[in-house]
Amino acid sequence: MAVLPIIKADNPILRQKAKRVPRIDARIQKLIDDMIETMHAANGVGLAAPQVGVSLRLFVVQEYREEDDQLVPGKIFTLINPEVVKTSGEQEVEEGCLSLPGYVGRFSRANTITVKGLNREGKPTRIKAEGFFAEAIQHEIDHLNGILFFDHLPSLDQLRQLRPKGKIAEPDVPNDDIMGERHPQSS
Ligand code: NI
Repeated sequence: MAVLPIIKADNPILRQKAKRVPRIDARIQKLIDDMIETMHAANGVGLAAPQVGVSLRLFVVQEYREEDDQLVPGKIFTLINPEVVKTSGEQEVEEGCLSLPGYVGRFSRANTITVKGLNREGKPTRIKAEGFFAEAIQHEIDHLNGILFFDHLPSLDQLRQLRPKGKIAEPDVPNDDIMGERHPQSS
């Protein structure tokens, strides 16, 4: 396994509509392993193949459950050639992306989503998600369609810059910054 370089938002690969994965072979298995390792190394909650320069319809995402106002990490899902079956409701999100470190933006997404596709064993699978997990899945599907989170903002002026890494937090951390932590550079 290897940590792969994550390409940045100005790379044209991130603007392509990714191609379907034709066959789940050893090369794809290695890509999935490397993407999971890369996601962990970057403290992300999800990662789409185009972000490591591979324009294929495939992403990995870690499930988070909300418990007592905390996000608890759960299972890691791999979805290949995903299709959205259904969405419902609306949630306001504050989202970032590993391809645009240090910035977040607020906008709205569906509150629940059902997606289907293949898992890494090539078996048809379906994921039903809500809240933060649903947000992450929508973010990754956007990546497969050449969409970046800030495309959802009316203007780039609405991007908010996070506190630079390494700066010591002030004693009274405003709620907003806690949100920034809860919504890490998602993916
Ligand atoms: Ni992203």
